[in-house]
This record gives sequence, structure tokens and C-alpha cells, in this order.
Amino acid sequence: MNVCVIGTGYVGLVTGVCLAHMGHDVICVDNNATKVALMQSGKSPIYEPGLDELMQSSMAAGRLRFTTDLKAGVEHGDVLFIAVGTPPLPTGESDTRYVEAVARGIGAHLTGDYKVIVNKSTVPIGSGNWVRQIVLDAIASQDTTHVDRDTLAQSFEVVSNPEFLREGSAVYDTFNPDRIVLGGSSQRAIATMQRLYAPLIRRQFSEKQSLPAIPVVVTDLASAEMIKYAANAFLATKISFINEVANICDRVGADVTQVAQGIGLDSRIGDKFLQAGIGWGGSCFPKDVAALIHTARDYGYEAPLLNAAVQTNQHQRLLALEKLQQMLKILKGKTIGLLGLTFKPNTDDLRDAPALDLIRELVRLGAKVKAYDPIVQPGSHAAQDERLAQVDLATTPMQLAQGCDALVLVTDWVQFQTLDYAAMAAVMRQRIVLDGRNALAPEAIVQAGFAYMGIGYSVDR
Ligand code: NAD
Ligand code: UGA
Repeated sequence: MNVCVIGTGYVGLVTGVCLAHMGHDVICVDNNATKVALMQSGKSPIYEPGLDELMQSSMAAGRLRFTTDLKAGVEHGDVLFIAVGTPPLPTGESDTRYVEAVARGIGAHLTGDYKVIVNKSTVPIGSGNWVRQIVLDAIASQDTTHVDRDTLAQSFEVVSNPEFLREGSAVYDTFNPDRIVLGGSSQRAIATMQRLYAPLIRRQFSEKQSLPAIPVVVTDLASAEMIKYAANAFLATKISFINEVANICDRVGADVTQVAQGIGLDSRIGDKFLQAGIGWGGSCFPKDVAALIHTARDYGYEAPLLNAAVQTNQHQRLLALEKLQQMLKILKGKTIGLLGLTFKPNTDDLRDAPALDLIRELVRLGAKVKAYDPIVQPGSHAAQDERLAQVDLATTPMQLAQGCDALVLVTDWVQFQTLDYAAMAAVMRQRIVLDGRNALAPEAIVQAGFAYMGIGYSVDR
């Protein structure tokens, strides 16, 4: 099928590349000309394992192109994905201006051929009908002579198809989704989407080919939009829950990693997303939980559980600071080394990363902050972030350790488990490891000469 994906961030680019790999003919549109030029040269503007290889092979096969020309994209696509950002406004509400601009652009360039417009972006409940109206308004003001407006107005339908991929495993998640959600009232549009995803549904590109077909959940528009918010809000709340349990474990001398294992084996609870740590971040959980709270408030409901999940997370994101103060007392003049900066491993994404809160507070308290991140290296695009201006970025873990009073593991990159901690201890001023993700083997760290502290457990209780 002919596909157009508008917006080539983590979701749009991965969706476009994977659909092209599945055999569809894909045009990706972005209004950032620099990004488009980079992608045209076969390079992905984001770090996502496996993405560059798939992108280059589909480009070579002639099934994947990049452009800033929305008109060309709209004319090409039988299915038009809207995958632009929906960042938070200061009120917590979702900023839908980019979705609005794209919907207007689509309406201005419709040709009269049947097209399905797909809301892939995470958008407030009610956005499906809102997008439809914007497209209709754009048609009404379209300066067209060759197709009459009534024909254009009948030529498209809107479907909600929320995305559940995780950054850092986006390609894997796209080929191995737990489910596909399609919201809409038009059977023709839903059937078009099922045809588009048929190879995925049959697990043709999955590592789990022996499993039954991927479930497709067909709903009305509003329910599909709500599924996306409810899924992220549930996962964020689950993490806040285990973090709260961890904080109680710290006080009573229990081990949250054992508790998580013990409760996670109950199939009603499940073992995923029970990793206690210094809080959830990233471009989605914080903004999506805030947006759901905002929506509830708009309809006269205060959503106490979601508010509590956010509050627990705000506290958790500064727990490392509290623990450093317990161990080092005065932080002024101390040097703190951060292992990892991004909100999770295998990504270069710093959006709403807990590291940024920690850096801000450490600097405010007069500490010197060093950091080592495998992707956010000195000179990299991500390192230009102004919030890192006062951070001394190291190129190796050894360089990071030099002169530090404590190391804080902020991001659970797998390679941090096997660093030469004994060698690092030898070049530090004081030997403290605060494992903010409970990702290290505590005994090995202690053997390397460190005092070790995790979140919800420690070795010397
Ligand atoms: P992003 O910020 O990484 O990318 C958005 C892209 O859209 C940018 O490249 C930008 O240049 C482009 N853009 C903006 N306005 C445009 C316009 N008018 N025309 C063409 N291109 C335009 O965003 P993202 O992280 O990919 O998220 C996109 C949406 O998907 C959001 O609603 C987000 O909540 C949702 N989502 C994200 C993830 C994730 O892991 N990042 C997962 C699921 C859902
Ligand atoms: C999350 C969801 O997992 C995706 O399904 C969803 O599509 C996406 O948001 C989105 O809507 O954008 P992502 O933000 O990429 O994906 O990352 P996660 O793996 O969910 O981690 C989010 C945060 O929670 C990270 O800061 C991570 O460190 C933290 N986390 C995760 C924990 O603290 N404990 C856990 O057990 C799991």
C-alpha cells in the first residue's frame, strides 16, 4: 500500500521505516529540513537500535523516501499517519498545535481519492472528531477547481491507532506488539488498516512466529484514545507503587527487589514495571499522566490516584539527592559522578530525564557534577542541551570516577554492570555508589571497595 507518515520523530520514523520493511511504499514528511536532509542521506536523526540498517535497506529498495513536501506525501498515501509531537503545556494539557497544522495541511491537499487519516500521535480524547472537523474546514477553504468540495469531504475517514512502542526497543516493539488498537466507526477505514498491518498481525516479521496472531482491538474513537492514556497512566502508577514500597522497605529493612519478585510472580500483578528506582521520566509518562489528569479535571473529576502517582514520582526523582546528603552530609564542594543521563538506556532522549532534576539540585547546592553517558558524549547533538551546561561530560567511566566523592547510577545501561569498579574506586576521593536503578550487583561493588546503597535495599542492613 502507499503510505505517508507525517512527523519523523521516534514514532513516525520508526513506523515509516518498519512499514517500508514490510513491503509498503512509504513517504515520510517532516517540516524540519535539516532532519529531512540527514534522513535522505540514509542517517537517522535519532538513536534507536536497528533503525539505521532497516532504513538504509528500504531506501535502497526504493520503498522509503523523505521529503518536506506535505502535498507530495498526501497525494501519495492511501493511509496518512499523523505522528507529530504533542508536548505538554504548562497547565499539563496536551499541546495539539502540531496535529492541528498537519490536519489543516492534509485537508488542503486532499485529491478526492479515498484516504484514511490515522492519529498515531497521543492526542486528547475527542481528537479524532476534532481532526475530522479541521480537515473538513480546510476542504471548505480549499482553492480547488478540479474536484468538488462534497466529493473531497466524502473522500477521507479518521482512525485512532495509538502507539505503544518504547524508546530504545522501538523497532522490536513495532514488529512484536502485544496488540494493535484501531478506533473508528467506518468499517472501510478499519479494514484498510487491517490490510496495512496484515503482515504484522500474522507475525511475519516477529521473533515469536509460533504464537497466535496479534490481537486487534477495534473500538470507537474515544475509547482508542483513552486506551493510550490509560495504558501509560497504569504503567506509571505501577512504578510509583513499587517506588513507594521501596521507600517503606528502606525504613523497615526489607529488600524491594525480593518483594518485586515475590509479588510479580502473581499473574494478576505481573513481573514487568516493578523495578524500583529514582522515578519515571521520558517524553511520555510525565506528559500523558498530566494530560489525563487535566482531562479528568475538565470534566469535574480530580483523579486522586493519578495525582498521587505523580506526587510519589516527584519525590522519587530527588531521592538520590536525599541519600547523597545522608551519606556525604554537605554537598557544597563535593564532586558527584552520574552514570547515565538519558531517561532510560538505549536512547539519546533527555526529555524529562530524572538526571536533569538531580543536576539542577546538585548545582544549586554547590556540588560539582560530572557525567558519563554512552550516547550523550561530548560534542554529540544531545550534549548541546543547555541543561547540561554545568556538567563536566566524561568520555570514559574512568575519567568520570577521577576525583569523585560519589557515583550515582542514573540510567541502567547494561554495560554499567560490568565496569572495572575497583579501578574506578582507586581514583575517587570517597568511595560511595548510589545505585539509582538497583541495576548493579551490590556484593561486587562492595568488594571493589565501595559503600553501596540502592533504592529500597542495601547490603549493610
Ligand atoms: P518527536 O518530537 O520525536 O517528533 C515529532 C516530529 O514531528 C519532529 O521531527 C518534528 O519536526 C515533526 N513535525 C512537527 N510539526 C510538523 C509538521 N507540521 N509537519 C511535519 N512534521 C512536523 O515526537 P515523538 O516522540 O515521535 O512523539 C510523537 C507522538 O507519538 C507524540 O504524541 C507522543 O506522545 C506519541 N508517542 C511517542 C512515543 C515515544 O516513545 N516517543 C511512544 C508512543 C507514542
Ligand atoms: C513508555 C511506554 O512503556 C510505551 O508503551 C509507550 O508507548 C511510551 O511510553 C509512550 O507513550 O511514549 P518509554 O517512555 O519509551 O515508553 O519508556 P519505558 O520503558 O516505559 O520507561 C519509562 C520510564 O519509567 C523510564 O524513566 C524508566 O526508567 C522508568 N521505569 C520503567 C522504572 O522506573 N521502572 C520500571 O520498572 C520500568
